[in-house]
Amino acid sequence: MKYFFIFALLLAPLVFLFIKLFIIEVNDPIKYIFSISGATAIVLLLISISIPLIKKWINLLKYRKTVGLFAFFYALLHLLNFVILDARFDIMFIIEESLDKPFVYLGMISFFILLFMALSSRAKLFKKYKKYHQFVYLALFLACVHFIMAQKSLSILQYVYIFLIVIIFTFKIKQKINKIYKIY
Ligand code: HEM
Repeated sequence: MKYFFIFALLLAPLVFLFIKLFIIEVNDPIKYIFSISGATAIVLLLISISIPLIKKWINLLKYRKTVGLFAFFYALLHLLNFVILDARFDIMFIIEESLDKPFVYLGMISFFILLFMALSSRAKLFKKYKKYHQFVYLALFLACVHFIMAQKSLSILQYVYIFLIVIIFTFKIKQKINKIYKIY
């Protein structure tokens, strides 16, 4: 039952996106898909990073992998929007956009880190590649820089995002430093 509820929550942004695109209709569907898929991927990455931080109060550790995989799913949707709807499979357009807008590179690096993590998330491979899963912080950081650079100006909501990201990163760094001091 709990799993069903978590799944429904994770799928809610996709359902919302479909309703907006096919029932309510939006002015610029491509831009809208970029916004919803990109923002959802960032929020889910933030949640998956925060799960160990809140385990004293609420233990959601067993859902962490599912949340991470959904973050990857929304990042993939974002990439498909770029390649299929925006570029219409035109390789020259993709190269020109990347040269014109360097933030696209950062998004690509972030995406490939998430792809690696999704592919190595199965039990056997995870054991072997667990230490590389720390790269999720780099993926999130690059995705945030990518998202800030993609904006002409920032809205209040986007400032709230950045504030939350800084807070969570600070807690994580503190946790890591404490761990190192405990070892020595
Ligand atoms: C595969 C690599 C990626 C490509 C090619 C890409 C491409 C783009 C493009 C072209 C935009 C600008 C959209 C516009 O305003 O017209 C954008 C915005 C954005 N991207 Fe990406 N991206 C990539 C990866 C990612 C990843 C991995 C994330 C998050 C984890 C992400 C999150 C965002 C966000 C939040 C925005 C701002 C959307 C808005 O304007 O509200 N992107 N991306």
